[in-house]
Amino acid sequence: MGRSGNYKELISEAVERIVAAKKITALTGAGISVASGIMPFRGKGGLWEKYDPSEVAEINRFLMNPGKSWIALKEIQQVVEKALPNAAHFALAKMEEMGYLLSVITQNVDGLHQAAGNKRVIEYHGNTIRLLCLKCHAKYPSKEISLETLPPLCPACKGVLKPDAVFFGEMIPADAQSQSLIDIMQCGAMLVVGTSALVEPAASLPRTGKRNGAFIIEVNPEPSALTRMVDLFIEGKAEEILPLMVDELLKSSEGK
Ligand code: OAD
Repeated sequence: MGRSGNYKELISEAVERIVAAKKITALTGAGISVASGIMPFRGKGGLWEKYDPSEVAEINRFLMNPGKSWIALKEIQQVVEKALPNAAHFALAKMEEMGYLLSVITQNVDGLHQAAGNKRVIEYHGNTIRLLCLKCHAKYPSKEISLETLPPLCPACKGVLKPDAVFFGEMIPADAQSQSLIDIMQCGAMLVVGTSALVEPAASLPRTGKRNGAFIIEVNPEPSALTRMVDLFIEGKAEEILPLMVDELLKSSEGK
């Protein structure tokens, strides 16, 4: 395991590494949206104690009985639609604006990085703010589709609509996979935020970065499956640590 300890010193070290790297990527997981009211998959409380994501979001179960899956999906959809970006999302948007952050690779399907202002967001697991017609492949903003009758049907061809997110048993979108690798290969550091790193292939992205020489910084209130291999582990909440990193980055760019 890399260094861990006094968080102020760790933040300073992380910022020095980011400045030295010039370009970084971030890999984010459900933990970054906890302060926006969206419960993580493997934490306590919220929707995921009521619904098992590996059942609700399993593609074969969905195809066999979309109406049943949609009862849970509708509730999830309503939480996501109301959620607003928090200080951690805004901090990543600022890092992009400052020219350090090349892209956010996110496992989240909530669209909150884009809502915070990040321009280059690689949606590794797709997005639930769009619905996809399984028959004609048209896509619709989920806000435009009524969920009064389930499953919702395509206004054009009456095919079943599915959230445009990657379900268990589905492939990662090829574009997201290749763009992530291209970006990681260009970066001297990687920021891994709020992921338990238990779901592949996303969990392997920081290992790919490290093999390519990137310095790996992790922010999480608890150790994850990656903590042993990261170079710097900052034990804390994303919404508290990331804004402090931005403050330090701003000070360091003022000093130039
Ligand atoms: P998990 O729910 O597995 O992990 C959430 C992580 O966030 C944990 O490591 C927590 O310690 C951490 N965490 C909690 N609160 C936090 C905070 N305030 N700040 C920072 N971190 C915090 O979520 P993911 O790793 O994103 O896949 O899950 C990966 C994938 O598993 C998801 O994308 C989803 C799921 O099955 C699909 O939908 C395909």
